[in-house]
Amino acid sequence: MTLTRRGCISAVSASLMAGTSFRLDAFQNQGARPPGAHEDKTDGKTWIQRLERPDRIPGLKTDQVIQCLKLRPGMVVADIGAGTGAYSIPFAKAVAPSGRSLSVDIWPELLEYVAGKAKKQGVTNLQTVLAKLDDPNLPRNQVDLAYFHDVFHNTNDRQAYLKILVSELKPTGRIAIVEQEYDDPIAKKWDHDVDRIQKGQVDQWMANVGFKLVDQFDIFEGRNNPAGTGMPARWFVVYGRSGN
Ligand SMILES: C[S@@+](CC[C@H](N)C(=O)[O-])C[C@H]1O[C@@H](n2cnc3c(N)ncnc32)[C@H](O)[C@@H]1O
Repeated sequence: MTLTRRGCISAVSASLMAGTSFRLDAFQNQGARPPGAHEDKTDGKTWIQRLERPDRIPGLKTDQVIQCLKLRPGMVVADIGAGTGAYSIPFAKAVAPSGRSLSVDIWPELLEYVAGKAKKQGVTNLQTVLAKLDDPNLPRNQVDLAYFHDVFHNTNDRQAYLKILVSELKPTGRIAIVEQEYDDPIAKKWDHDVDRIQKGQVDQWMANVGFKLVDQFDIFEGRNNPAGTGMPARWFVVYGRSGN
């Protein structure tokens, strides 16, 4: 099985997967964390200030992400934890005219902000969705791809969240996750140890809901992470239903 892709083009050996080192033993119970350290008090207005830094944008690599995810007209894509819509708006353009981009977040201020931005840019195929902390509230059986960029670690009970998410996707739906490298110094500064997650944990939570790894990309890894964006190095994985 060849999964890790350089950029979005060539594949390399699965030995990278087999050799992935993660400390599952230390985290095996994390899928159902009790309330506490992870609680994020950041509100919608604060997120707007944090996310709209112009120096952050090159670190998002939106065009490459669209290419990696093979977005095409007609698809329905959910940008979960959309923030200020850095991905939702390019996603809407990529799936237009017949597709839709769902900009999903727990903060109404952010959704209003994204809707305003879409209007200014003449984007008409973007819809906002107010999520709950433990449920993205996606329209049933319509979404082809759920995308999380720097968000999935914000969910509390990850296993329970995925169970709900997969019940909302189309049978052929995929889930893409971009997350901070566990030991990246910026990630360590932002989030408590107990809140950060590792690829191996996600593989296990996904397996428990009948999903398997179908792609992974290195575009956000250390050597490919542009300097000066203030973004940590990240891993980028895509899952699909095991039977598909
Ligand atoms: C670090 S920001 C990332 C924003 C955007 N994905 C980006 O990279 O530009 C995290 C976002 O996730 C949202 N969020 C946090 N917990 C969430 C949850 N359980 N469900 C949906 N969104 C959530 C926050 O409100 C915030 O907008």
